[in-house]
Amino acid sequence: MPEFPYSRLRRWPDVEADNLQAHDPTDLLLVERALALGADGAATVVIGDEYGAITLALVQAGLRGIRVHQDLATGRRALQRNAEDLGLTGFTAHELDQSLLADARLVLLQLPKSLAELEEIADAVARWAAPDAVLVAGGRVKHMTLTQNEVLGRSFAHVQPQRAERKSRLIIASEPLPVPAEPPFPVTAQHDGLTLVAHGGAFAGARLDIGTRVLLDVLGGEAVRPASPARRPGDEGDRSESEEAEGHGAETPRVLDLGCGTGALAVSYALAHPDARVTATDRSAAAVSSARATAAANGVSERVTVTHDDAGSALPDASFDIVLLNPPFHLGASVHTGAATRLFEAAARLLRPGGELLTVYNSSLGYRPELARLIGPTTQLQRTPKFTVTRSVRASETPDS
Ligand SMILES: C[S@@+](CC[C@H](N)C(=O)[O-])C[C@H]1O[C@@H](n2cnc3c(N)ncnc32)[C@H](O)[C@@H]1O
Repeated sequence: MPEFPYSRLRRWPDVEADNLQAHDPTDLLLVERALALGADGAATVVIGDEYGAITLALVQAGLRGIRVHQDLATGRRALQRNAEDLGLTGFTAHELDQSLLADARLVLLQLPKSLAELEEIADAVARWAAPDAVLVAGGRVKHMTLTQNEVLGRSFAHVQPQRAERKSRLIIASEPLPVPAEPPFPVTAQHDGLTLVAHGGAFAGARLDIGTRVLLDVLGGEAVRPASPARRPGDEGDRSESEEAEGHGAETPRVLDLGCGTGALAVSYALAHPDARVTATDRSAAAVSSARATAAANGVSERVTVTHDDAGSALPDASFDIVLLNPPFHLGASVHTGAATRLFEAAARLLRPGGELLTVYNSSLGYRPELARLIGPTTQLQRTPKFTVTRSVRASETPDS
């Protein structure tokens, strides 16, 4: 059998850089273990395959009918694109549900970053996979903790960490335990009139992040409608007649929560503005399910539309008056601003000229010059010892263009 060409895999549309690869030694260990176990493709499930390295190496080795769950829209696109480039087919994509796991006997897992996400996945495997299912979870040793074994131990009778190899380690979990009647996720919490609902993989869980709270305080105190005059006929992003007829007239700003997580910003805005229609979007499926559940729990589902997408790529140019953004600043385990820049660029594309981006970020990151360059004139609305909130008004011509 030919060696799998791992180096041909691309991360695109995720951030690409010379020091970032589309596979890691854990992928190779998981593939080697699955092949050594003589896995049957139709009973094999892959969870957390970042860019397709595990799935595609197994498909190339002859396994057919593998089921795959990836949380990120970027990872899903990367897997499809890598599969097309390599001419490989024979796997199916699923959400984290019964269709993914029914009758599965081998589950390969790239360990997620959060323990809550691991707990939700371990429960799902114990709940839906075959009674003799084995979960093989792997990660980089430097990111692994003993608590991960404890979490797995709540859903499996046996949890056996293996010897580290190439700075990665596998943990074998077997004999699924009986599960509680109700799954442990999503979880719910109340915050001053806002109910947040969170799946395991959602940013900050059901807590209200402190940065989000600072931005919400500013939104509560500020007139967030754009100060610029109503659009002129023929302006880019002018509303259609049917939109006006539906009641989204010039008085109703079109609002986007970019990277919505559990939907705290989108749903708070909808609650504070009973006429508003809000779009929320995130690249994480766990975030999307959480934001939909948050909208439902607060009775605003009909006015909040949630999409699973990378940086709002499916939304039309110049189609929003206001973008709310609490950008990510961690890429994997290292601090990397590429992910935030990607969302600033998306906001520049999605705002109409004169529209506003309201952003909160860790003050140490000093994003203001970048916001001014990518969006337009940027003013500071609030600065706490930790967080800065800015308003950037989208210039008619993107300053950088
Ligand atoms: C700091 S969290 C903020 C979540 C939420 N807005 C809040 O304030 O609680 C950043 C969010 O951006 C999402 N995100 C990161 N990169 C993204 C991208 N390229 N496209 C869409 N969402 C993205 C993450 O999944 C995460 O939910």
